[in-house]
This record gives sequence, structure tokens and C-alpha cells, in this order.
Amino acid sequence: MSQLKRFTISLEKTLIKQFDDYIRRQNYPTRSKAVGELIQKALLEKEWTTARDIAGVMVLVYNHHKRDLVNRLTDIQHQFYQLIISSQHIHLDHNNCLEMIAVRGHYRLIKNLIEILHSVKGIKYLDFSPAISQ
Ligand code: NI
Repeated sequence: MSQLKRFTISLEKTLIKQFDDYIRRQNYPTRSKAVGELIQKALLEKEWTTARDIAGVMVLVYNHHKRDLVNRLTDIQHQFYQLIISSQHIHLDHNNCLEMIAVRGHYRLIKNLIEILHSVKGIKYLDFSPAISQ
């Protein structure tokens, strides 16, 4: 197990309150655990934005009754066919679909794909987890 080291940070009261609310909502047991995960996430993000090629997985949840949205997502995926390794579609329930899209390629293209997906109305959830970088 890695050694723990204690350090002190100073923040504005309102930011601490917002952070504590966030910790409670996310069910973190301690501030240390939450800060540690946020630091790790920031470092990984920094790494993948500077790495030339990365791989990772996008997760989307959307309502499949919105046909325009389904068609738009298909068009976008065809536009980025060279980036997308595979995708898996899961019918979550009567209304919702979950799609996992595995990607590998230049981080700028992946960022571009994420930005385009952010602009699509009707996506209920969108997340990207970078897995490896070269
Ligand atoms: Ni479905």
C-alpha cells in the first residue's frame, strides 16, 4: 500500500460548502477520498489531452423514441468510423438505450467527437473514460 501524506489546503468558505455538498451527493466517505479521486482524474485528463493517441470508452444514454436523435447518432458514428473500434447497444428499458462506444485515435479527434455529441439534444448521459495512452 502506498504511503499516505497529509497536506493542508485553504479554500473560500462557499467553495468548501459546495464541495461538501458534492461529497455528500457522491457518497464519498471522506474529503481525502474525494480530493484524491479528483486529482487523479485531473492528472489523467491532462495526460490524455497531451497524448497523441489514446483509447477509451464513451457511454451514452438516450431515449430511442426520438428518431431524429437516433439517426443523428448513427450519422455521427459513421462520420467518425475510423475512430470507433466498436459499439454496443443495450436496451435498458422501454424508453432508454445505453450505448458503449470504444474509440482509439488522436485525442483531438476524440475531443471533437465528444464536443459534437455534447451538442446533440436529447442525450441524457454522456461520459468518456480514457483507458490507455501511448
Ligand atoms: Ni435500444
